[in-house]
Amino acid sequence: MKIAIFGTGYVGLVTGACFANVGQEITCVDIDEQKIENLKKGICPIVEKDLSARLDQGLRSGNLKFTTNFQKALEENDIIFIAVGTPTLSGSQKADLSAVFTVAREIKEFAKSSKIVVQKSTVPVGTGDLIEDVVGEKHEVVSNPEFLKEGNAVADFEYPDRVIIGTENEKTRKILAEIYRPFMRKKERLVFMSRPSAELTKVFANSMLAMRISAMNSITELAEKFGADVAEIREGIGSDPRIGFDFLFPGGATFGGSCFPKDVRALVAIMEENKIDAGIFKEVLKINYRQRQKFIFKIFDYFNKSFIGKKFAIWGLSFKPGTDDVREAASLNVVNVILDERGEAVVFDSHAMENFRREIGERDQKIIYQNDQYEALRGADALVILTDAMEFRSLNIAKIKDLMKRPLIFDGKNLHDPLEMADQGIDYHCMGRPYYSPKKE
Ligand code: UDX
Repeated sequence: MKIAIFGTGYVGLVTGACFANVGQEITCVDIDEQKIENLKKGICPIVEKDLSARLDQGLRSGNLKFTTNFQKALEENDIIFIAVGTPTLSGSQKADLSAVFTVAREIKEFAKSSKIVVQKSTVPVGTGDLIEDVVGEKHEVVSNPEFLKEGNAVADFEYPDRVIIGTENEKTRKILAEIYRPFMRKKERLVFMSRPSAELTKVFANSMLAMRISAMNSITELAEKFGADVAEIREGIGSDPRIGFDFLFPGGATFGGSCFPKDVRALVAIMEENKIDAGIFKEVLKINYRQRQKFIFKIFDYFNKSFIGKKFAIWGLSFKPGTDDVREAASLNVVNVILDERGEAVVFDSHAMENFRREIGERDQKIIYQNDQYEALRGADALVILTDAMEFRSLNIAKIKDLMKRPLIFDGKNLHDPLEMADQGIDYHCMGRPYYSPKKE
């Protein structure tokens, strides 16, 4: 069966490239002509480990094609994946489903024979029914949500924890099981369920993980008051196998990205629309944003509520390492506040400088972009760490002392041991861990 994938974002492109790599015939469709032209030449639009290699391989084998001609793609393919973006609708909490329904209308108009329509974009529960209303009963609509993590997306796709197939149609289940077969060699990980269950599973999985982070963020606030240490607490609770260690790093300043905030918001919106108390999920967002604010206030308070004339080195602009994605990244808030308060920002990131520059807009002119991580520290009053990138996990203390006005660090990711930092003479501030005065030389 030939497959067309609508949308060449993180989900669509990874899906297309990984399927092509195991021998499926894939046509990726997008409305962005420039992006499609670049993809045809093997130019990958995003930073994502191993994706360029899969892309090259797909183009070389001829299994992976790119086009803006959706009409032809709908005529020539049997399975149509919808993998377009569903950001938060501006001015509301809801997901913006306009791109999904544009594809659905195109399917209705141009898909002459019966298709399997695989809904991969993250959507509120019930969207499959609405898509079915648009495309008509001739086509079979399936929910097949994606669980990939940015920065590890190719590996997540090729070695999935589970592949959820939401349809009650046995024949369609078999067809989809077949196309996912190459990724099930070690162990069968297909989970079949109804379409609404699949839709809800996806949004709830992200909300559940976000809840764990918010629970840690919440305890961080209390830990700080009593000199308890969240890193120790994480060890203590994670060793209970019912709890486990994953997703128990307090987000600190940095709960963000393209999925967690928007999916929790969309869950709240649909619960409220259906008159169901969404309190627990509303708190998730509140706590996590409060934590970001608290981090910024911590820095502001340290400087007696004035950043005038102060120079800040910022390490980490993306919402997490291994990606150039800056959506809902802490860096945007932190740098905006620094500039609002007439401070100076020197920023460094291995992948995300260009996207950050675009996102921050005109203010870009006031920012110094530094390609050398340690050069960014020259003459800085403070270093602010905003992601847990590998290159930030060990510090060159000598360089820090040499280059900065004085060694002062605000760590939004709790990467270092506060006592060790103090011993090395660093004035080190993080979240939910005790503070120790730096040792005098
Ligand atoms: C997430 C889900 O993990 C993935 O399954 C889904 O398909 C898309 O959304 P992603 O947004 O790429 O993936 O990033 P993830 O690694 O899950 O991190 C999300 C946010 O939580 C980041 O801001 C990260 O810094 C933060 N986080 C994560 C924490 O603050 N603490 C943790 O312990 C883990």
